[in-house]
Amino acid sequence: MRIENNYNLLRHNTFGIEAHCRKFVEYTSADELRTILGQRPLLHIGGGSNLLFLGDYEGTVLHSAIQTLEHSTQGDDVLLRVGSGMVWDDLVAQSIAHGWYGLENLSLIPGEVGASAVQNIGAYGSEAKDYITQVECMNLETGQLRTFSNEECHYGYRRSIFKTPEERGRWAVLYVHYRLSLTFTPRLDYGGIRLQLQQRGIPAETVTASQLRQTIIDIRQGKLPDPKVQGNAGSFFMNPVVPREKYEALARLYPDMPHYDAPDGGVKIPAGWMIEQCGWKGRRLGPAAVHDRQALVLVNLGGATGHDILKLCHAVRDDVARQFGIDIRPEVNII
Ligand code: EPU
Repeated sequence: MRIENNYNLLRHNTFGIEAHCRKFVEYTSADELRTILGQRPLLHIGGGSNLLFLGDYEGTVLHSAIQTLEHSTQGDDVLLRVGSGMVWDDLVAQSIAHGWYGLENLSLIPGEVGASAVQNIGAYGSEAKDYITQVECMNLETGQLRTFSNEECHYGYRRSIFKTPEERGRWAVLYVHYRLSLTFTPRLDYGGIRLQLQQRGIPAETVTASQLRQTIIDIRQGKLPDPKVQGNAGSFFMNPVVPREKYEALARLYPDMPHYDAPDGGVKIPAGWMIEQCGWKGRRLGPAAVHDRQALVLVNLGGATGHDILKLCHAVRDDVARQFGIDIRPEVNII
């Protein structure tokens, strides 16, 4: 177990913001984690790719360094039990290398395995919840272990039980179980994948998992800034789901507005499109800016504080509310 006092979290948040915590604890097992549970307040982080620190954290920050990968097969299914501290994209890469299929479209999402289960990460038509079977957790108040089934996790778009006001901060994810397949079934119907394959001369009928992974990586790298070069937390906002009547009223004003049917009968409207319509794409406010290739992403131009980013967030959110009558909510956790 690694314990640091007055620790700089710069390397633990992809926005690249300087913030310190009183204590930083990195554990490698449930037993290690149990020894430090009395301390308050506690903040459990993953890869820090979805965090915005507004200041120092006057408490203990926990980080899992459980990085094991166990597997078994059952017919065509591959069952994985993965430590929450494994880097997500390492899991995707290793799975494909072993011939365990399913996670290809989730390639290059930043963050760690634990966060995949909390955040229900998603991209290009796939979501973590489609593969998660159960999540092993520890209660941070009592030290009790509990396994949540997929249904008990109450997954939705970027949503889970672990993010609800009642359960937030109560559970540390230790292991996530996934069900993958020995058979590769490519999912190509989302935003630009087929076009990209065509441009590379790869027929959709013969595409391999590695080729699909590389295509997804290239699409992401073409749009999303690399946090190592420019601080950011991926999509800053969630895509709002609005009632169908609201969508229809807007569609009369903006016939080209992209939209997707949401599972509950509502309609999802890309926040990045609305932000661009408001003229924010590529615009800066002090040391923070809206990314010039994907307006859903806010970037640190260098030396921004959490408050600088938040100021930009509010300015963008106000303009979208004024023009579209829709409140876009941050996806990023503001601490
Ligand atoms: N759009 C614009 N302008 C922009 C950005 C987007 O007009 O600046 C339009 C696009 O042309 C497209 C639509 O909005 O018609 C959707 O854009 P895109 O496919 O780029 O995806 P997104 O909805 O903006 C979501 C996820 C991303 C994920 C992509 C691909 C959320 C909050 N974000 O973005 O996830 O990679 O879909 O599946 O749902 C993340 O969560 O950090 C993340 C990057």
